[in-house]
Amino acid sequence: MPAKRKILVTSALPYVNGSPHMGHLVEYLQTDIWVRFQKLRGHDCIYVCASDAHGTPIMLKARELGITPEALTEGYAAEFANDFRDFGVEFDNYHTTHSSENEALVTEIFTALRDNHDIYTKTIEQSYDEKEGMFLPDRFVRGTCPFCKTEDQYGDACENCSKTYTPADLIDPVSVISGTTPVRRESEHYFFRLSDYGDRLRHWMNDAALDKNVVAKLEEWFEAGLQDWDISRDAPYFGFRIPGTEDKYFYVWLDAPVGYMASFKNLCERRDDLEFDDYWRPGSDAEVYHFIGKDIMYFHTLFWPAVLQGSGFRTPTGVFTHGFLTVNGQKMSKSRGTFIKARTYLDNLNPSFLRYYYAAKLGPTIEDIDLNLDDFIARVNSDLVGKLINIASRCAGFISKRFDGRLAESLPDATLFNEFAGASETIATHYERREYSKAIRLIMALADRANRYIDDNKPWVIIKDEDRLGDVQLVCTQGLNMFRSLMIYLSPVIPAVAEDARTFLSEDRWLWKDASSPLLDATLPKFKPLLTRVEPDQVQRMVEQSRESTPVPEAASKNQTISIDEFTKVDLRIARIEKAEAVDGADKLLALTLDVGDATRQVFAGIKAAYDAQSLVGKYVVVVANLAPRKMRFGVSEGMVLAAGPGGEDIFLLSPDDGAEPGMRVK
Ligand code: MSP
Ligand code: ZN
Repeated sequence: MPAKRKILVTSALPYVNGSPHMGHLVEYLQTDIWVRFQKLRGHDCIYVCASDAHGTPIMLKARELGITPEALTEGYAAEFANDFRDFGVEFDNYHTTHSSENEALVTEIFTALRDNHDIYTKTIEQSYDEKEGMFLPDRFVRGTCPFCKTEDQYGDACENCSKTYTPADLIDPVSVISGTTPVRRESEHYFFRLSDYGDRLRHWMNDAALDKNVVAKLEEWFEAGLQDWDISRDAPYFGFRIPGTEDKYFYVWLDAPVGYMASFKNLCERRDDLEFDDYWRPGSDAEVYHFIGKDIMYFHTLFWPAVLQGSGFRTPTGVFTHGFLTVNGQKMSKSRGTFIKARTYLDNLNPSFLRYYYAAKLGPTIEDIDLNLDDFIARVNSDLVGKLINIASRCAGFISKRFDGRLAESLPDATLFNEFAGASETIATHYERREYSKAIRLIMALADRANRYIDDNKPWVIIKDEDRLGDVQLVCTQGLNMFRSLMIYLSPVIPAVAEDARTFLSEDRWLWKDASSPLLDATLPKFKPLLTRVEPDQVQRMVEQSRESTPVPEAASKNQTISIDEFTKVDLRIARIEKAEAVDGADKLLALTLDVGDATRQVFAGIKAAYDAQSLVGKYVVVVANLAPRKMRFGVSEGMVLAAGPGGEDIFLLSPDDGAEPGMRVK
């Protein structure tokens, strides 16, 4: 066992302008498993994260919803926090980039870089939306590709011919925000002299823990030449203002990684045993690792280490990069129902299953990982339920029914147990190197071995022979100890299941090394099944709930009648109005927050002329609960409230009473 290490781990800071989904989870679960493993090994390992709260998309989305960016990001941050908690992702701290710690650190870094002559200003020309009074990021201009003439392409690259260009090259460009034609306008920007950092970055690359495909990518970028980096944006912008300016802001990607430090700093304020400088100043004896997805490599392996080098901080020990998630072999898709939100998964399935499945597929490379839903069901049922939990189920009953829950005082097959103990360091090495799939393969091979032992010794047969009762106790003690070692090995992956197993084994705490010494002569409570099988319709339901239907074809919508089948597809439910608010800039709409039993929904309803918002709170209404969410100018509407009447002031909400409750189906 190596000496105690000081390790600081981060996951990328999620953009809080949308809900967490299965793709995000690849990263947070991969990181959480690694952190739990390090803690189990007895190291000092700290895991911090935060919301990435700045930037143009967040500013615009908040504006569209008529709320402040703070309110928008706090809402999504709460969603992330809840989903992380329910998936067992355990941070030591979860902060936000929109924080005083972050602003202070970014300012310190910027000032140091400027004093070093690493910052200069230059006037550049950009697309400008005169109606909105703002500069447009490339993605906010659309038009016809200058090369292949495909219409409606982004301002930076064509999805058809893959050529890259600037918004100025587009034919008939329009601003996505106002629909007007953007003009070209000049503005002064701040640049970071990345071009000076080639040698220092190569040095860092040679020392850092990087996978070889990451190194290959870096070599490619060095080869192409490093360009200076534009770190400023003009107002209006949601971010930190650059000191000494009126209307310039730090580009979100400058302050985002600083958020790692800021979150750690915020933790240090609460923890006497942690010193910020011990972890972040040159000469630190701590290891610092960033887990990220392959799409944000450039920011983490070039900009970030260079910024740290130039501003008096230490650089990361390693950047661990994973690939992207595909579902059933394809990009996640809303129409196929494979763009699955973390919450939709949780509504239908046990989080331990996904943790296990991802672990079984994850390696240390940037290769994409596939969630194949049929394979998911098969794998979870056969490995976790069929092999692992089965070991305990086959032994625990005999121990509790025939031996008052008492384990034997010795193991009948110490050699076999030593095989399990002997695998400890190999499994640990696999985890350490993020070779989770290898760790899982080895653990499952041992589970097979344990089941074979029980098959060979047949406790259910020898129990019939009164003289051999002692043997049954021995065999089951052996079985439960093999189960226990495997559970310890798997506890970074399925901590909730491991905790239940540990409680059943009446132990207070597990460390990695406990897997190598057996539990004997202990009294156990009655065994409760730790997991149940996944049923295919649970997965089916999750996919259905994730599917966003495509628009009804013209012909179908003209049809005057609908079949009973079509009618039964309409999910009508009782909802309670929790909140009703006017919508800025919409004279007919109210934004309703509805309690539909198992969840809350936001629905926009054109009933403002008929009802005073306040009078609606607490009222029951009928909603179409399975209407595909629709994006409106003010936000997403997640259903429709039923009402009658010709319109305007004469609208009457269908309001049930007499025992109606949120979530009830209307038949
Ligand atoms: N805000 C930036 C990160 C700033 S770090 C200083 C960001 N946010 S994100 O929400 O878009 O993504 C967060 C992490 O999730 C990233 O590492 C990203 O690669 C990862 N993933 C997002 N979608 C993913 C998949 N579909 N598959 C796998 N990982 C994905 O990037
Ligand atoms: Zn093109």
